[in-house]
Amino acid sequence: MSASISPTPSIETLPPFRRSPENQAGSSTKIEGKIPDWLRGEVVRTCPAVFETSGWRAQHWFDGLGMIYAFRIGNSAIDFRSRLLDSETVRDAWHGKANLGSFGTPTSRPLLQRIFEPVPRISDNTNVNIVRLGQELVAMTEGDRQLVIDDETLAAVRPVAYSKDALSRAIMTAHPHFDFERAKVVNVATAFGVSGVVSVYEHAPAARQRDVVGSWRTKRVPYVHTFGLTPRHVILVAQPFAVAPVKMLWSSKGYIDHFDWHPEEGTRLVIIDRSSGEVREHVTEAFFVFHTVNAFERGDATVLDLLAYPNADIMASLRTNRMITELPQLTPSLTRLIMRPGSERATVEKLSDVGFEFPSTHYKLANGRPYRFAYGASDGYQAGGTYTSAIVKVDIDTGRATSFNDGTHIFGEPLFVSQPEGGSEDDGVLLTVGSAQNAESSVLAIIDARTMTLVASATVQSSIPLGFHGSFLRKEG
Ligand SMILES: [Fe+2]
Repeated sequence: MSASISPTPSIETLPPFRRSPENQAGSSTKIEGKIPDWLRGEVVRTCPAVFETSGWRAQHWFDGLGMIYAFRIGNSAIDFRSRLLDSETVRDAWHGKANLGSFGTPTSRPLLQRIFEPVPRISDNTNVNIVRLGQELVAMTEGDRQLVIDDETLAAVRPVAYSKDALSRAIMTAHPHFDFERAKVVNVATAFGVSGVVSVYEHAPAARQRDVVGSWRTKRVPYVHTFGLTPRHVILVAQPFAVAPVKMLWSSKGYIDHFDWHPEEGTRLVIIDRSSGEVREHVTEAFFVFHTVNAFERGDATVLDLLAYPNADIMASLRTNRMITELPQLTPSLTRLIMRPGSERATVEKLSDVGFEFPSTHYKLANGRPYRFAYGASDGYQAGGTYTSAIVKVDIDTGRATSFNDGTHIFGEPLFVSQPEGGSEDDGVLLTVGSAQNAESSVLAIIDARTMTLVASATVQSSIPLGFHGSFLRKEG
């Protein structure tokens, strides 16, 4: 008689990654506190939600099949709805297949297909971010396709129809910037060939013609999740977590599993002039980064603030088999890099002792300029082994932080929403979604950004998996 084998536990059973039945059309929430009169609109977010089907299992957090969800904030009510993404990747997974290249989960392509198509087509599992681009609500991952999402049903409608161009198979970041003065969306796309070409492109929000404003070529391609934008420059962080593209040929490994950590090379900082396309490079110590916080010009120096991990170990700690026993320590250091023309070495300053992830600012007021406040979620183990979560506000000038937590929820990215007449960087609220650690419920917390106290909350009897990014779509008028 054979011994029974207990199945490997899934992170779907574990808060904060647990999910309730999906496709909830318009359930109401329980509101406590008073919703500010001026706060009308919708919080729209995307997250990895399904980590296994029969025949397929995500091996990395970033490969969970996407779910789009929204809290609609009205006069006296907040409604919640959610919908699993319908995409090529998702349909494959429900059939137990993995034909498209994904982040950290192997493909299961037949040998012949691998021979004739040495690099797989890329996943369209847009579970990283969702933003408004012109009239379209667009869900994104790090891929060559972005999906248009229907505002009402949250269904994926079609891929965004960019004009055919040299970037057609390039991987766009899921963190486009917005240049309000020039009315441009700015993003970075990486094309893999014998070497890598990392291009900065721009387009008007409603246009789908991408204009390349500058490119940087490299033999070993760094992992690029975000970048810095000032009125004059784009700043790329060429961290030493990189891949020689040839390693990806005929491989069935996940995209990121081809990358190696080369700390001896340090981190290169690549500044691309948005007018001339001219490229200049600086170098600093090795670190790993997902998120930049802000960038600006100070005299002839370019300043980039970002959240730095000492090495790339965080990437391995986001594998699902690791997360089942240990939640990720999402507490990188707020770090300032100062780059001066004529000086190859960039200066490094640590701005705060408080570690956090999922940064945000009063984007319209602060991005590309000297600024005062950064916000984020500080999720991690404390001494003694308790996992805690707090929304933090860091004063860039002093490094001091104030925070909000309720002892119950694990919170993700706080979105800053300014008061319509607000004139300062903390004149508004932070909107953040938290998953209860010990109950089948989640909350949308509305936090006063000035005092970091709870203004109102909307509780939904549904587990919303911790995810990454989203937007607040303000209802005008
Ligand atoms: Fe991100």
